[in-house]
Amino acid sequence: MSTFSTTALPLNTPPKTMGKLPRVDGPLKVTGAAMYSSDYNLPGMLYAVPVCATVPSGKITALDASVAEKMPGVKAVYSHGNIGNLYRAAPPSGFIGILDEQRPPLEDEVVRYYGQYVAVVVAQTFEQATAAADKVKVTYSKTDHNVSDKLKTDEKPKVDFHRGDPDAAFASAAVKIDETYATPTETHNPIELHASVASWDGQGFTVYETTQAVMNHRNVMSQMLGVPEENIRVISRFLGSGFGGKLWPWPHTFLAASASRNLGRPVKLVVARSTMFESVGHRPRTQQRFRLGANADGKLVALIHDSLNHTSILDDYSEGCSEATPYSYSTPNLRATSAIVRRNVGTPTSMRGPGAVPGLFAMESAMDELAIRLKMDPIKLRLMNEPEKDEGLNLPFSSRHFVECLNTGAEKFGWAKRTPGVGSMKKDGLTIGWGVAGCSWIAERTEAQAAVDLMQTGMVRVSTATQDIGTGTYTALSQMASTKLGIPHDRIEVVLGDTRLPAGPISGGSWATASLVPAVMEAIEKAKGTLFAVAGSAKGTQFDGAKPDALAFTDGRVHLKDKSPDTGVPFEEILNKANIRVASGQGSSKGTFGDPNKKFSTHSFGAQFAEVTWQPETARLRVSRVVTVIDGGHIINPKPAQNQIEGAVVMGVGMAIFEETHYDPKFGLPLNNNLADYMVTTNADSPAIDVTFLDYPDKVLNELGARGVGEIGLAGIAAAITNAVYHATGVRVRELPVRIEDLL
Ligand code: MOS
Repeated sequence: MSTFSTTALPLNTPPKTMGKLPRVDGPLKVTGAAMYSSDYNLPGMLYAVPVCATVPSGKITALDASVAEKMPGVKAVYSHGNIGNLYRAAPPSGFIGILDEQRPPLEDEVVRYYGQYVAVVVAQTFEQATAAADKVKVTYSKTDHNVSDKLKTDEKPKVDFHRGDPDAAFASAAVKIDETYATPTETHNPIELHASVASWDGQGFTVYETTQAVMNHRNVMSQMLGVPEENIRVISRFLGSGFGGKLWPWPHTFLAASASRNLGRPVKLVVARSTMFESVGHRPRTQQRFRLGANADGKLVALIHDSLNHTSILDDYSEGCSEATPYSYSTPNLRATSAIVRRNVGTPTSMRGPGAVPGLFAMESAMDELAIRLKMDPIKLRLMNEPEKDEGLNLPFSSRHFVECLNTGAEKFGWAKRTPGVGSMKKDGLTIGWGVAGCSWIAERTEAQAAVDLMQTGMVRVSTATQDIGTGTYTALSQMASTKLGIPHDRIEVVLGDTRLPAGPISGGSWATASLVPAVMEAIEKAKGTLFAVAGSAKGTQFDGAKPDALAFTDGRVHLKDKSPDTGVPFEEILNKANIRVASGQGSSKGTFGDPNKKFSTHSFGAQFAEVTWQPETARLRVSRVVTVIDGGHIINPKPAQNQIEGAVVMGVGMAIFEETHYDPKFGLPLNNNLADYMVTTNADSPAIDVTFLDYPDKVLNELGARGVGEIGLAGIAAAITNAVYHATGVRVRELPVRIEDLL
């Protein structure tokens, strides 16, 4: 068994440096010591390479593996009929049992999207498996397919939110906006590829897996492979990010695991970059009709938001575009609806800020259009419509400082110097445009458990079955323990990414940190309680016979409550004398989702300001500057938090002007299925980014007041940029990404 310890390299960080700790996993990553899933090579391991459908819709009429099976090193070729039993998972409960593509791989011979797995070759080496996969001859009877990006449905949409009489209020509004906004299919492109290294031991599996949720992964594997949960161990020590694409299991895991079980050997399956565009999810295309009605003075009287997103043939994935719609602005009349439209594409999934990110592109574009119609400053329009409470839930906000985000951002950005006329601002011979948008994201807690061990060695061990997707969970937990116990970071070991640990939260929704605070704090208190019981039973010491509640723990020392910490004894000495190796405590957090007794609406907020430069002679558009102000509760460590927001802004530039998955209409395949053709923001494309955190603790969520900052940084950015593009060029881009030809 390999374990990861954050103490593998000296940190020598002094105690009580909350907010200053460098990334504890940084040295391991830059020296190559960090092990990612596909880095594990087990004795006797075989390699699996899938065969992917080359039609977007049809039926397999013949699958001839006879040539492939005779090729060097080939151990087996599995297809429908010989893979072994794979089952479907029952509907999930909470955050356990979730997967987006419900169909087990190879379940039938019907092809519903280009790239769907139709077989898998297992061989001695990766090269042998790849060569043999090429020689599996599959013939199909094709059926009609549809990958069109024009979304339409005759089905009755689902009403997500409703209040007042939006139709009548819109009809009689003095000023109206009625526009449709579209966002394209976006494909997650974490640098670390998806991978499973599965090993069957006769009774169960050990799986090294790229997953943002080891506990869910174990449960879904248990259901789909028909193996009790306790016989499955999922390990995910490090991830090269995920962006939501690694939240839930995808079919490759079940191919690797089945092959391992069939052959009695460990099997590695690494999903190719091109396959990342097919069968491990994507953000679906959205089309959103947004209607705003206002009085002549800018007060909103009606808001109607009707959204569509594509989904696959078999699975009902709803993007949830109206997530931020009911509570962002004050209006008595509101309706939000949603519907899905089937396409021959792989099943969509969550991508960073699912729902709110495309939803806020529509809403914050529409707000900008309304401000222009009203000849009003777009910040003023937002301030005028600031709600006093969450009008969707009819509850007060736990902590909302959206107005301060706008005002602080305006000051940092220099908004007062903005002249509203299109193309009216110049800098260094270029036309510049300035745009603003608001943003928000859900702040919740999920159920979580954690353990804290005070060790005889003087070390403190914090463990929980969550994982660090690169966002800084190792560091945040090290800080929580360090701060609470007054023990330096180099004496704290954080262990994550293993289903044998106490059940931890998903790394998703920006909820992991907030969810872990109560669990870790309680585990610390319980571990101290265990330690106090040991101290009180230590004969012939100053604590002999002391009741646990007469003792205190300060900076690593146990002392009598009524005496100063200097009189105390280091905890490791107490454990040493008692010959006790470890004083442990377990803690748990309750989830806040679906709590019917909620007294507050809990969200993070922010304001995004973007500057673009525009050179009409050469049609050159750049995003030159972004100021972002985030109201994300208390920020546990500003460095990784700032990195999160900067990364999100960079991703937002991609959303605004680069990213789009193109499906070929005739053949149904994603054409730009590689990092050369699927454009993401490079360093050279990245603007200067100024991140400010307001740092108001949200004590409704947990005692540290931490909310989470993984996703909010992406919300609103695309609209801030397209609003700036309008200001520079006079062209309103309502369909992302902005193309040069839109501006000519
Ligand atoms: Mo995030 S889309 O919840 O990984």
